[in-house]
Amino acid sequence: MTVSSAAGTPRDRVLIFDTTLRDGEQCPGATMTLEEKLEIANLLDTMGVDIIEAGFPIASNGDFEAVSLIASKVKNATVAGLARAVSIDIARAGEAVRHAVRPRIHTFVSTSPIHLAHQMRKTQDEVVEIIIATVGQARNLVEDVEWSAMDATRTSIEFLCRCVEAAIRSGATTINLPDTVGYATPDEYRHMFRTIRERVPSADKAIFSAHTHNDLGLAVANSLAALDGGARQVECTINGIGERAGNAALEEIVMAIRTRGDVLPYETGIDASMLTRASKLAAAATSFPVQYNKAIVGRNAFAHESGIHQDGMIKNAETYEIMTPESVGVSKTSLVMGKHSGRNAFRTRLTEMGYSLSDNQLEDAFVRFKELADRKKHVYDEDIEALVDQNIAMAHDRIKLVSLSIVAGTRGPQRATMKLQIDGTVVTEEQEGNGPVDATFNAIKALVPHEAVLELYQVHAVTTGTDAQAEVSVRLSANDHSVTSRAADPDTLVASAQAYLGALNKLMSRGARLHAQHAAE
Ligand code: KIV
Ligand code: ZN
Repeated sequence: MTVSSAAGTPRDRVLIFDTTLRDGEQCPGATMTLEEKLEIANLLDTMGVDIIEAGFPIASNGDFEAVSLIASKVKNATVAGLARAVSIDIARAGEAVRHAVRPRIHTFVSTSPIHLAHQMRKTQDEVVEIIIATVGQARNLVEDVEWSAMDATRTSIEFLCRCVEAAIRSGATTINLPDTVGYATPDEYRHMFRTIRERVPSADKAIFSAHTHNDLGLAVANSLAALDGGARQVECTINGIGERAGNAALEEIVMAIRTRGDVLPYETGIDASMLTRASKLAAAATSFPVQYNKAIVGRNAFAHESGIHQDGMIKNAETYEIMTPESVGVSKTSLVMGKHSGRNAFRTRLTEMGYSLSDNQLEDAFVRFKELADRKKHVYDEDIEALVDQNIAMAHDRIKLVSLSIVAGTRGPQRATMKLQIDGTVVTEEQEGNGPVDATFNAIKALVPHEAVLELYQVHAVTTGTDAQAEVSVRLSANDHSVTSRAADPDTLVASAQAYLGALNKLMSRGARLHAQHAAE
């Protein structure tokens, strides 16, 4: 499809396929709850994402439930469910996306010699038969079928052409050629798309899609090269999260296209002013911090530290800024709020920051804001974000922190007295530990005995100053499953307890059996 840009130049429309909830969630520790997934899906929809890959329905009942719920709620975007090239997967994906306004089944099979020999133990002829059967089955369930050649970049062009022709003839409307292992270079990837589109007789009946991984740091460059080779769909994730080194970052693709329209003659349907909000929401839901110098959405992306740069910025922002912070949703002024700020000012600030909360959510957030403002002189945007994201994440928690007091200092042992509410019942415990954090976590373990292993404990300050909130990340793993949770509070130990409990709540919502002894059976 060709559209006209504001300047009148014809530009090809590039479809943005977001896989934060599938490839993104697949990376260790990035597990999200049902509510978090729905919130992200709604934001992606509002932001103008064309296709939301909501999950892998056969993977678990939780995944199926998430895809079904998102399919029934999303208003504009196509909702895709992933399926291996297996009949039960495709049936399950079809059922999950059934209620979407625009349902899609995305089915994939490996095509490279190394995958065929060691993983699938199939011949090339058998793979082609599988493609014909499974794409045909998917097409009987939905009109919109995407087929992916897993490990396409390590597959011979001849065999890829055979597979692509078979998939299109069997009903695939989108052909995705992933660089599954992040091995390709931009020239190679561009060439692959060009050659396949030239050689496959039915190529003009499908949209070609790029799906790139970042193992060599080339994911975004490869996706842009694929566009030059004729791809018109890009698969990406917010903050670039995904398997191993991650996927191509949605915000980088969108802003590269927008900023370098002179050499990238494309357009997306994305409202770029929502990119920062999306980044923060994904970071809060997965508890994966965004690196400070991350392009577009990193904390330092628009910070100018050196004297020469600051001087240039004062004279003319274009000296050192190729896009404005406002264009990606970074607000110019960080309105400082304090304990005298009222409900209306708080609501207005939240709206400006891109939040749309229900009345109940707003009330809860306002109460927590007041508590924070009582303890902290200035409340910055970052504080409000940490507070609201945490509030949303905690809304459905079964285990809640009621109170925590600590005895710490040079004379050990350190002691933690903790009160939790577990499924409505309040329970108390006192534990000692090798330091106050250890004592706090021991109290949690005594109240909620569990086998989960602490894989990560990290603390950083949300803003500057000694009264800054501490933001704590905790990653727990149990039964091959790892989850991360983040919490912020001016008291590092309270934030630590909240983060640990957040991770336990996530494990529980994923069906992990914890022995919350006092919980209602
Ligand atoms: O990287 C990959 O090959 C994938 C497929 C399932 C599309 O994620
Ligand atoms: Zn992938």
